[in-house]
Amino acid sequence: MTKSAVLILLGPPGAGKGTQARMLEEKFGLVQLSTGDLLRAAVAAGTEAGKAAQEVMSAGGLVSDEIVLAILKDRMAEPDTAKGVILDGFPRTEGQAAALDDLLAAQGQSIGAAISLDVDDAAMIERVSGRYTCANCGEGYHDSFKQPAVAGVCDKCGSTEFKRRADDNAETVSARLEAYHAQTAPLISYYEGKGVLSRVDAMGQIDRVAADLAQIVTQVTN
Ligand code: AP5
Repeated sequence: MTKSAVLILLGPPGAGKGTQARMLEEKFGLVQLSTGDLLRAAVAAGTEAGKAAQEVMSAGGLVSDEIVLAILKDRMAEPDTAKGVILDGFPRTEGQAAALDDLLAAQGQSIGAAISLDVDDAAMIERVSGRYTCANCGEGYHDSFKQPAVAGVCDKCGSTEFKRRADDNAETVSARLEAYHAQTAPLISYYEGKGVLSRVDAMGQIDRVAADLAQIVTQVTN
């Protein structure tokens, strides 16, 4: 019997959080919840939160806890999250981690696993700068590591439209890596202290990493 779970994917930009979260969503019926995607949607919609977040995101910094937590709480209140969630890119600060603990405690839930995707910084600039996604369904691709089976056609939905993120350039990626090491990497010890940390070598091929993650998620959800 599969039970609902709250899983956290930790890792720097390009570690494969989004790629792996989407694969886990398909395999386990969990809901991927990416604060990066939620913030980009707020920017595109021109909301007050989106306007405040836009400049920070373009510079590669972290959006304020206040804005991120408001967006996250709204999304967590939607009924589909009862199936279990994969938090992709959240929490990213100690303040966010403490707020997540409070939110889950109020709902009688707890963290099933916090999984750190361990990678080398040097490889991340290449991963992020070669990334593009399907403009229709969001499936992720890479110029070198993951191309569609038929060039120019999305494997998932057949769309021929693709897009690249505005913050996927070498300069911004360096700032994002700095923010990760200064503010997010300390959460690895935080979750180790709570006894829920797992570490996965995410330098291998996408399917190899997915197999390691599936093993952890199977243990947590059964
Ligand atoms: P966000 O959207 O979360 O970006 P990020 O953390 O920088 O992570 P990425 O999406 O760049 O990387 P990923 O780990 O998902 O890698 P992917 O799977 O795409 O955040 C963007 C911004 O929003 C932040 O900078 C911040 O300003 C703000 N923000 C978001 N959340 C926030 C929060 N909680 N608090 C404050 N601010 C927040 O993979 C990358 C590429 O590599 C792809 O092309 C993929 O095909 C390829 N790839 C993946 N795995 C492998 C592999 N094993 N081998 C080879 N290639 C691979």
